Amino acid sequence: MEYEAVSDEEDDALSAWAQTGEENVEGTLRPRKLDEFVGQPRVREQLELVLESARRRGVPPDHVLLSGPPGLGKTSMAMIVAAELGAAIRITSGPALERAGDLAAMLSNLAAGDVLFIDEIHRIARPAEEMLYLAMEDFRVDVVVGKGPGATSIPLEIAPFTLVGATTRSGSLTGPLRDRFGFTGQMEFYTDAELELVVRRAATILDIPIDRDGCAEIAGRSRGTPRIANRLLRRVRDYAEVRADGKVTREIAQAALAVYDVDELGLDRLDRAVLTALTRSFGGGPVGISTLAVAVGEEATTVEEVCEPYLVRAGMLARTPRGRVATATAWEHLGMVPPADLPVRPDQGGPALFEQD
Ligand SMILES: Nc1ncnc2c1ncn2[C@@H]1O[C@H](COP(=O)(O)OP(=O)(O)OP(=O)(O)O)[C@@H](O)[C@H]1O
Ligand SMILES: [Mg+2]
Repeated sequence: MEYEAVSDEEDDALSAWAQTGEENVEGTLRPRKLDEFVGQPRVREQLELVLESARRRGVPPDHVLLSGPPGLGKTSMAMIVAAELGAAIRITSGPALERAGDLAAMLSNLAAGDVLFIDEIHRIARPAEEMLYLAMEDFRVDVVVGKGPGATSIPLEIAPFTLVGATTRSGSLTGPLRDRFGFTGQMEFYTDAELELVVRRAATILDIPIDRDGCAEIAGRSRGTPRIANRLLRRVRDYAEVRADGKVTREIAQAALAVYDVDELGLDRLDRAVLTALTRSFGGGPVGISTLAVAVGEEATTVEEVCEPYLVRAGMLARTPRGRVATATAWEHLGMVPPADLPVRPDQGGPALFEQD
């Protein structure tokens, strides 16, 4: 077996990013049809309409952009789009499309009605992106042959296809690219009730005996993310098999997750480090994201994309125009008394100091 070193982040039970070697089990657990897909009621309903209308008109649907944090089901949803259309899917990713030629090759191999899935589309190289504009709009690419003054551009027809793009950073997408998608599905974090269904479904597929409380305990610590729920379920299963009779109950789940440093709210060591730095070293903030990242020895992008969305959602961290601020909930979660002059959230009658996004 090939061994790849994994970083702390990838090694972490609570990372929302896929880990090395996790592809197989993820493939097994992927929902295959729209009605098998738990949660995301808005995106599901919207997509259902887009797909059904295209089906009735007998044309490929508009290009679809799926955006949202890692592990919420963008790749699964892209595959479902193809499955629902009965279409073939070709899969590539932004970083793989370094040269326009890479994309031209991909596009010219498409058959009519195929789905082209570009993961991490915000990382596509500029020349490929420009080629994509024309392909998305006119189903045509201009292939440049030769160099310098003698170079000519040869138009190449491509089959009508549907592009499905996925991105964890829709903000880094250029305007022209974003505008060329007919539909954007914004994936949201899952509720605990939805995650319970995700855990139950995965337990059935993986043949893990689990009761209702066991499901609830895992769901509540999964940070709104199915990928994490499925991973925690596997870790709890390991514990149940080695230290108990294999059956997952609330007590077993609690004991197992304590071993993996996952607290009752689904915070891990890095999250707690961020909150601790914010409160202890910076008096609760406001402090800039890069300063905060340095304080916990992590990359700013990791703190911003992995920790922050969940901490904001859990009501422990807020973004203000002047930087990140710890809320009273954060102080209390760390077992400290919040300072008296702590700014309160607007929904608690405080000044409009907090930005929504
Ligand atoms: N709605 C869902 N119901 C059940 N399982 C789900 C659902 N969404 C995601 N999963 C599970 O979570 C795993 C991760 O989902 P997926 O790979 O689709 O996420 P993603 O948004 O593409 O993540 P990334 O941004 O890292 O590419 C899947 O293997 C699947 O098992
Ligand atoms: Mg994906």
